[in-house]
Amino acid sequence: MNFTYFAPTKIVFRRGALDKIGEEAKRLGDRALLVTGRTFARKYGYIDKIRALLEKSKVSCTVFSEVEPNPSYETVERGAELARRENVELVIGFGGGSAMDAAKAIAVLALKKGFIRDYIYPYVVKEEVLPIIAVPTTCGTGSEVTRYSVLTDTTSKRKTVVVGPSIIPKVALLDPSVLVHLPPDLTVYTAFDAFSHAIEAYWSNRSQPISDVLAVESMRLIVENLTSAYQGSSSAKEKLFLASLMAGLAINAAGTTMIHALGYPLTVYYNLHHGLANALLTLPSIRHNRRTVKEKLEELAKRLGLSSVDEFVEKIEELLSETGIKKLRDYGVSESDLEFLAKEGVSYSRNLANNPAPVTLSDAVKILSEIL
Ligand SMILES: [Fe+2]
Repeated sequence: MNFTYFAPTKIVFRRGALDKIGEEAKRLGDRALLVTGRTFARKYGYIDKIRALLEKSKVSCTVFSEVEPNPSYETVERGAELARRENVELVIGFGGGSAMDAAKAIAVLALKKGFIRDYIYPYVVKEEVLPIIAVPTTCGTGSEVTRYSVLTDTTSKRKTVVVGPSIIPKVALLDPSVLVHLPPDLTVYTAFDAFSHAIEAYWSNRSQPISDVLAVESMRLIVENLTSAYQGSSSAKEKLFLASLMAGLAINAAGTTMIHALGYPLTVYYNLHHGLANALLTLPSIRHNRRTVKEKLEELAKRLGLSSVDEFVEKIEELLSETGIKKLRDYGVSESDLEFLAKEGVSYSRNLANNPAPVTLSDAVKILSEIL
């Protein structure tokens, strides 16, 4: 056996964890940049709340609330410029994956000159960046504990990633009370993002014993709680929040695979929510990898208390239908687009390198046709 597991984030998970933000920030610096999306944080009063908590701990707060879904290079460069101008000493990402990922990229660029393009993978960020506090508000990305910042290159229309151990947040504050505002569709989409993280980490060529345990438990929590969370149960949403954290810890070690690769073009070209794209691709990806990871999937079914992989597949089918996930064409994709989308999908070689079974262009076309 041979593996490395690195998870340096201080994780605080409890109702009221957000109230600790001043204290945690003060340990990292005196001037913070708060990075959020355009609506949620302001609409529900979180910007004022966080500012007040920071000021109470004598940490000044500059707000950058311009992060769009699937953040662009331009956005993070504007944020970094503000960080440099205000001479901030730490960055706080509050929101879904987009806000946290933008915060990470801003933390890199704030100490540099130049463009974020210069720090995109295969570059690996190992140098010092501004310390990051991540506060997730969805049940999905796990970005609060990962070394990934997923961005969108709007020129080449590609998802790209800033990656490196130094962009792992120093502190993750998971306060389930923020989930009260998360609507049913986003609860489901982000939970399917977490589910894809878990299953992809589990079957990844880079999977390892610790990430496996986290991945299996994450899937168990999602399978057991997704439908109730969709119906509004706050305790079920809290379980999904935990599942998303665990899946984040799993992909941080093992990476993502074909679901993410084939899902990215659906987001970039059709604006499908990242988690929705992954939800649609989950079943055909299980079918595609099934023979290659037969024993592992059997073990998974067993650990989830199911009698067989078939039963596991049925369970996922059930979850998709109970939570209203439809077909690709219902989201505006037409048959004539599939070849192009497949071509784009298989070009995400960073993800596909981790996939247990090879994915050819014709495999990708077949998979997309299945979910059309
Ligand atoms: Fe994801």
